[in-house]
Amino acid sequence: MSKVVTLHEFIMDRQADFPYATGELSRLLSDIAIASKIVSKDVRRAGLLENFLGAQGNTNVQGEEQQKLDVIADRQFINMFRTGGEVCGIASEENDDYMAFDNETSKKGKYVVLFDPLDGSSNIDVNVSIGTIFSIYRRKSEAGTLANLDDMLQKGTDQVAAGYVLYGSSTMLVYTTGKGVNGFTLDPYIGEFCLSHPNMQMPESGRIYAMNEGNINICEEGIKEYIQTYCQQTLEGHNRPYSGRYIGSLVADFHRNLIKGGIYIYPDTITDPEGKLRLLYECNPLAFIAEQAGGLATTGRKRVMEIEPERLHQRIPFFVGSKKMVEEAMSCLK
Ligand code: AHG
Ligand code: MN
Ligand code: MN
Repeated sequence: MSKVVTLHEFIMDRQADFPYATGELSRLLSDIAIASKIVSKDVRRAGLLENFLGAQGNTNVQGEEQQKLDVIADRQFINMFRTGGEVCGIASEENDDYMAFDNETSKKGKYVVLFDPLDGSSNIDVNVSIGTIFSIYRRKSEAGTLANLDDMLQKGTDQVAAGYVLYGSSTMLVYTTGKGVNGFTLDPYIGEFCLSHPNMQMPESGRIYAMNEGNINICEEGIKEYIQTYCQQTLEGHNRPYSGRYIGSLVADFHRNLIKGGIYIYPDTITDPEGKLRLLYECNPLAFIAEQAGGLATTGRKRVMEIEPERLHQRIPFFVGSKKMVEEAMSCLK
C-alpha cells in the first residue's frame, strides 16, 4: 500500500520549489482547504438544515438571484481570509465591491484572493455538483497599506496560484501554483484532503462538448458551424458524434473535461453580449489550471490570461478544454 499524502504535507513539500518562500502562500492554501471543508460539510447536509436551501431573497451585483448557500459560502471564505493574516483584500462574485481588510495583520498580508464562493447556484437545491473557484495574486500596493482596486485588476498571467473545490459525489480540491496541477480528495472519515490525482493532464482531444445549446440561435454563426461540423452527427451519419454533457456548474463541467478530455463553450450571445462567465472569478483561475494541465482557454479569439481586466465583475466569452478542440472551435469563428 502506498503512503497517503495529505494536502498539508504536499503543500509543505512543494514550498521548497519557491526558494524565497516565507510560508504565507502555504498557509493561505491551507486556510482555503479548511474553509472548503466547512462549506463541504454545509453542502452535504443542506437539505436537512433550516435556512440552507432556497433563495436568499436578494439579487447580487450581477443581477442574479442569490441562494442562501451562496451567501453562507461567501461569508465562510471571507472570514477565513480576514482572520488568516496572509490576505490584505478580496473580491467575490457575490459582493458589489472588493474588500480591503483594515486590521493591522491583514494590512501586512502579501496576497489578494478573487473567488466565486459557490459556482453552479442553480444546482444547489437539486443535489447536483457545485463548487468554489479561487485565484490568488500578489498585491501590487505596498504592504501595510489598504488593498486597492489595482490589486484586484491583474492579468491572469500574474496569478500565483488558482484552484477549485468541487462538492461532487466526493469533495475534491484541485490547484496549481504554476508547476502542474494536482487533485486531492476529501476523505470524510479522517477529515483530510489526500492526494488522489497527481500531475493532472488534460487529454489533447476528447469526445465531450458542453454548451447551453438553448443559446445556439442567439450566438454567432461560427458557433453553430463548430457544433454541427465537429460535435454532431451529420444527416449522412458518417461521423461519430461527440457526447453533449452540460451540467450547468462550470466547475463540474470543467473538472470532467480535465479528466476525460472535452470542450466547454459559453460564447457571447445577443442577450449576453459580453458572455456570461466572469473573467476574474471563473475564467482566469480555470484558464490557469487548464494551461498547466496542457489545455487551452480563450475567448474564442484570444488567450484569456492575457486580458487586461477593466472591471471587477467583467464578463467574457469562454472556450476552455482540450487544446485541439478549443483550436478547432476557434477556427470556426471569423
Ligand atoms: P454562478 O452559479 O456562480 O452564478 O455561475 C453559474 C455559471 C456557470 O457555473 C454555469 O456553467 C453557467 O453559469 C450556466 O449558465 P446557463 O444557465 O446560462 O447555462
Ligand atoms: Mn460561477
Ligand atoms: Mn457563484
